[in-house]
Amino acid sequence: MIGVAVLGCGRIGRVHARNLARHPRVRLEMVFDADPAAAAHPARELKVRAAGGLTEVLAAPQVAAVLVATPTDSHVPLIIQALEAGKAVLCEKPVDLDLERARACGARIAPHAARVMLGFNRRFDPSFRTLRTRLAGGEIGQLELALITSRDPAPPPLAYLKGSGGLLADMTIHDFDMARYLAGEFIDVQAVGANRVDPQIGRLGDIDTCMVTLRAASGALVHINNSRRCVYGYDQRLEVFGARGMLQAGNQDATTVRSFAAGYTAARAALPEFFIERYREAYEAEVDAFVTALEAGTPMSPDFNDGVAALELAAAAAQSLRSGRPVALR
Ligand SMILES: NC(=O)c1ccc[n+]([C@@H]2O[C@H](COP(=O)([O-])OP(=O)(O)OC[C@H]3O[C@@H](n4cnc5c(N)ncnc54)[C@H](O)[C@@H]3O)[C@@H](O)[C@H]2O)c1
Repeated sequence: MIGVAVLGCGRIGRVHARNLARHPRVRLEMVFDADPAAAAHPARELKVRAAGGLTEVLAAPQVAAVLVATPTDSHVPLIIQALEAGKAVLCEKPVDLDLERARACGARIAPHAARVMLGFNRRFDPSFRTLRTRLAGGEIGQLELALITSRDPAPPPLAYLKGSGGLLADMTIHDFDMARYLAGEFIDVQAVGANRVDPQIGRLGDIDTCMVTLRAASGALVHINNSRRCVYGYDQRLEVFGARGMLQAGNQDATTVRSFAAGYTAARAALPEFFIERYREAYEAEVDAFVTALEAGTPMSPDFNDGVAALELAAAAAQSLRSGRPVALR
């Protein structure tokens, strides 16, 4: 059994804590949150200890690994402290909002890099994973185009948006990672953005709608489109196109029931509400991949460098947004 502690018991930390508590080869040793009231909830539900401080977690010999689910600006210091205390780390995305800080962290933790995994959960979605395996297996020939659609049901509160780092670093970061997962490395990126959802988001200097185009080193083109608002639910789709055909991974329905009536044909139930529902299996598979790599002593994937690479794409896309021109990547 691997002893794990969860740091941060907010929206995503509680999902991970439940999955870890259910995992057959994990002992959820403790949870910790800077706000004791936030830790009390999962501690009670999962019957685990709420640690009194970070020092207690890092000093506990039975804790072999920590899952970092705290706000983004605390990821870098927590990754460093946990690794230097001998713990393996599964850290939520993004690594940081500042590329230079993320790179400096990468240099500092280089000796321990094999013990860090980044929480790009979409790589663990069964449909997306199957699509990628079949693409890599040559089913549609060489990849020519990839289309990534990712639209949130509703914008987060303005207070969250103020510290989010902007749409590209906060939301598109998942799609940048998905673009790399499907098409490898990129030569250039071009982004266009708009305020179509809420003018208050524009007044924060942010966008709520965007399209990004990336040109892969292989020659394939990747398109990402995002919106902070989608009235029919959380819209998450992939399409890859090649000389011999196309693979699509569409939205998931809660059931296979379809409704037919005078005003419509074949209407389905609403889409899953948001990420916690849509990626339930992916979050479970992500934790399982972390535990399995830890047990086997094999490298973690996606790793810290994948986190930095996605952030590099976000920074270059932000530069393109400002300049209105494509930005070349190293
Ligand atoms: N992969 C995904 O699908 C996904 C989904 C949501 C959030 N996230 C990421 O997870 C992170 C957390 O997001 P959230 O929505 O759960 O946030 P949240 O605000 O709901 O929860 C964060 C919790 O961390 C606690 N906290 C703050 N600083 C701390 C510290 N130094 N030590 C311990 N606890 C601390 C807060 O009190 C809060 O309870 C963010 O980086 C976000 O980008 C990822």
